[in-house]
Amino acid sequence: MNIKELLAAEASEQIVEIKGWVRTFRSNRFLAISDGSTVHSIQAVIDFENTDESILKRLNTGAAVKVTGKLVPSQGKGQNVEVNASEVLILGDADADEYPLQPKKHSLEFLREKAHLRFRTNTFGSVFRLRHAMTFAIHKFFNDRNYFNIHTPIITGSDAEGAGEMFHVSNFNFEKIPLDENKKIDYSKDFFGKETNLTVSGQLEAELAALALSKVYTFGPTFRAENSNTSRHLAEFWMIEPEVAFADIFDNMDLAEEFLQYLCRYAFENNSDDIAFLNQRELDENKSKPQQERPELNLIERLEFVVNNTFQRITYTEAIDILKNSKHYKKNKFKFPVEWGKDLQSEHERYLVEQHFKCPVIITAYPASFKAFYMRSNEDGKTVAAMDVLFPGIGEIVGGSQREERYDVLLKKCEEFNIPQEHIWWYLETRKFGTCVHSGFGLGFERLMMFVSGMGNIRDVIPFPRTPGNAEY
Ligand code: 4AD
Ligand code: MG
Repeated sequence: MNIKELLAAEASEQIVEIKGWVRTFRSNRFLAISDGSTVHSIQAVIDFENTDESILKRLNTGAAVKVTGKLVPSQGKGQNVEVNASEVLILGDADADEYPLQPKKHSLEFLREKAHLRFRTNTFGSVFRLRHAMTFAIHKFFNDRNYFNIHTPIITGSDAEGAGEMFHVSNFNFEKIPLDENKKIDYSKDFFGKETNLTVSGQLEAELAALALSKVYTFGPTFRAENSNTSRHLAEFWMIEPEVAFADIFDNMDLAEEFLQYLCRYAFENNSDDIAFLNQRELDENKSKPQQERPELNLIERLEFVVNNTFQRITYTEAIDILKNSKHYKKNKFKFPVEWGKDLQSEHERYLVEQHFKCPVIITAYPASFKAFYMRSNEDGKTVAAMDVLFPGIGEIVGGSQREERYDVLLKKCEEFNIPQEHIWWYLETRKFGTCVHSGFGLGFERLMMFVSGMGNIRDVIPFPRTPGNAEY
């Protein structure tokens, strides 16, 4: 049995065996052991008079141990059961002077430098158990609704989002890259015989599958070489992308809302211990912050809020009007311009969600000029059937659209966006044969994780973050 199971077990003096890592050792007697199965540790009471002095000295924080003894009802407060240890073995020492994690609070910045050990802290234990639970819940959500999981390629020749933020994939010798007669790189000599990159999105391939299997989703790693060193951007992140045939932008919004509410509910119904721990962690953290920087709702309240409230739906044009009429705007408090045709910046999104509506917001009908080529053109000729879901404290958590299903319109869009037909012929062909209305979206998995864990920096919800200048481990 792991510690989670032991803590829930009936204590009737049965002999149990625990393997885990020492959290603390107090008064030469009380040993707290964790094995990562739960945020709680189990207490082993050591009979120090009958235990080797040399063993007692090695029960340092971080050491791996095996403890055997009777499971009994606990005498102390804080736990129902404890173990009366009859045997203690040190499986792996942790030198008290060298082990970086002491039984005290370490800053998240410090722990980022120790990502190989930070799994051992309560905070990261909770975050990564929750990350597992969310992964499982995502597959369950779609499986229960008859979606099929599609593995889209990680190496691809296309740039779905058209932002040019790709990591190149090549096996050229960088010292001696083959050139053609025009002194341009000769990709025909490269491994795949063409220019390739790591995918920025599985959407285009997911669309191909949706136009046969009707309801599909991808859940894979995506890579973006954008040089934004923010608390919400990673160069390698995971994205969930459902794609649904015969669904329009309104069906798409309904799906995104139902999906996000489901995941938030799943988190506090199935991981209540971790959520309670992370909630308390955030409350403690906020004590040192000035009042105006503390969130109005705590983590649990925020999750409940999303589950219990419908999302506000507005168009981009309405969003611009709201921003222009805000006191914030009139007092010149926005750094970036508010103007029809310009993309919304994170400060605008957060104003709409956190100050104006005070709930999750879905913005639709964005200007075509700054959205991707595949989004369906609206009748006004200026906007596309795009949707972004904005969350408090996070900003954009989901981006999606109804797809352009009309062959001629899509062909024209490709020309406008300078996408050569020989790069995208397969995508265009689906619009020639049995095309239909279809829609989908992408949920940034780490943005979701930030929301459900309350962690303020995206680097703290993925085990080994990849950001500009940082690819350790
Ligand atoms: O809005 P994006 O760029 O949309 C797409 O990639 C579409 N192909 C999705 C689709 O329709 N199938 O990205 C989707 C989401 C964003 O809303 C955000 O949550 C997340 O992916 N995201 C990032 N997360 C972490 N780091 C980054 N650099 C991210 N860029 C986008
Ligand atoms: Mg987006």
